[in-house]
Amino acid sequence: MDRLDNKYSTSSANGNVFVNESDMVEMRSRVEAARDTTMHGTGEGAEYGLGWRDLPENYDKQEFDRIKSTAEKIRGDSDILVSIGIGGSYLGSQAVIDLLGNDSSTKVLFTGNSLSSTELNKIMGELEGKNWSINVISKSGTTTEPAIAFRILREKLIEQYGETASGRIYATTDANKGTLHDLAVRENYERFVVPDDIGGRYSVLTAVGLLPIAVAGINIDELMDGAKEAKSQSITDAMTYAAIRNALYEKGYSVEVMSSFEPSFRQMAEWWKQLFGESEGKDMKGILPDSMGFTTDLHSLGQYVQDGKRQVFETVINIEKSPEKIIIPHNDDNGDELEYLAGKTLSFVNQKALEATVLAHSEGGVPVTSINIAELNPHEIGYFIYFMEMSAAISAYTLGVNPFNQPGVEEYKRHMFEGLGKPGY
Ligand code: PA5
Repeated sequence: MDRLDNKYSTSSANGNVFVNESDMVEMRSRVEAARDTTMHGTGEGAEYGLGWRDLPENYDKQEFDRIKSTAEKIRGDSDILVSIGIGGSYLGSQAVIDLLGNDSSTKVLFTGNSLSSTELNKIMGELEGKNWSINVISKSGTTTEPAIAFRILREKLIEQYGETASGRIYATTDANKGTLHDLAVRENYERFVVPDDIGGRYSVLTAVGLLPIAVAGINIDELMDGAKEAKSQSITDAMTYAAIRNALYEKGYSVEVMSSFEPSFRQMAEWWKQLFGESEGKDMKGILPDSMGFTTDLHSLGQYVQDGKRQVFETVINIEKSPEKIIIPHNDDNGDELEYLAGKTLSFVNQKALEATVLAHSEGGVPVTSINIAELNPHEIGYFIYFMEMSAAISAYTLGVNPFNQPGVEEYKRHMFEGLGKPGY
């Protein structure tokens, strides 16, 4: 099956045209220009944003080996690794771990991604009586949410381990500068690097994502191999996806829903939302990325998608092979009237629900693009991540915005710091 199926992207299953061919031809030529801008590094933000492009081949092999040995050490001495970070500093690693599962005896918990006392207290409760370590991740080193969580948890770690606590702190920071970098150097924490030319939301395949992912026992060599395959194979699909999105946007479809029929995909959709939302939503432009988990949300927001304002288009994630096989049993009594499904697998029913939803939404006026993932393994997920990063960059340049900055996130900080009385505000 093709990885990208655009059968119902520009016209529906019952023949409604969402975008006509001449608009698509024009859009494709704009996308080709955006591809060239991405590949030649001639666009806005290229100097600090394009490092992810060659990462699957040109990563720091020594650091990569150190990530693997550090992960082994953490698995040997910790029941829990607390990963502290916000935005691109945690979304990708949590997504990969949720999707592929934690295969190790060390649990990875995520915090520092909100200012909720309840959430932090829950984490601290889980640490009671356990051996644990911290991976604090911040490129700027000054982000308030993770900085506060780190201060609180570091104190707790020192209470438990005394002088040896610093041997349980792993800091992923800018290579040379920043508050966290300086603190890590001073305290002699083991350090990993967020490369200068890779921004947070494009950083999951650096130490930012790889250390927590490796601690969870996921094969990071296979993850990188998948990304490498995507680097050589996925550019045409990335361009098609970027063209469809932008063509639909220009026809008034301003909300993209990523839907999946696998609940463990939910966090990956969160990662995707950040990648596209922060890359494109600027200069008063951009598609609003949203996500839904089906079939659950077919009994809630599915109503809006089917019958609400015609502004939504959908990108369906089709995971072709389920790792689990549950067979629906026979029941002679047939009191629940489900005998017609006896002997079928639950995955078969899920697949039929996906196919039915695509048809129903398409016929209802929702453009639907399908992304097929053969199965849930590190290789396929590495491929998916790289494909989406490439698509986000090309799509943002097609829209005419800088894919690699996020000036809008500063506004709330200014008001918050004023309210908190931070010196200088
Ligand atoms: O994509 C981005 O650059 C942001 O979302 C950052 O990842 C997020 O703001 C966290 O930044 P930092 O790693 O500097 O703490």
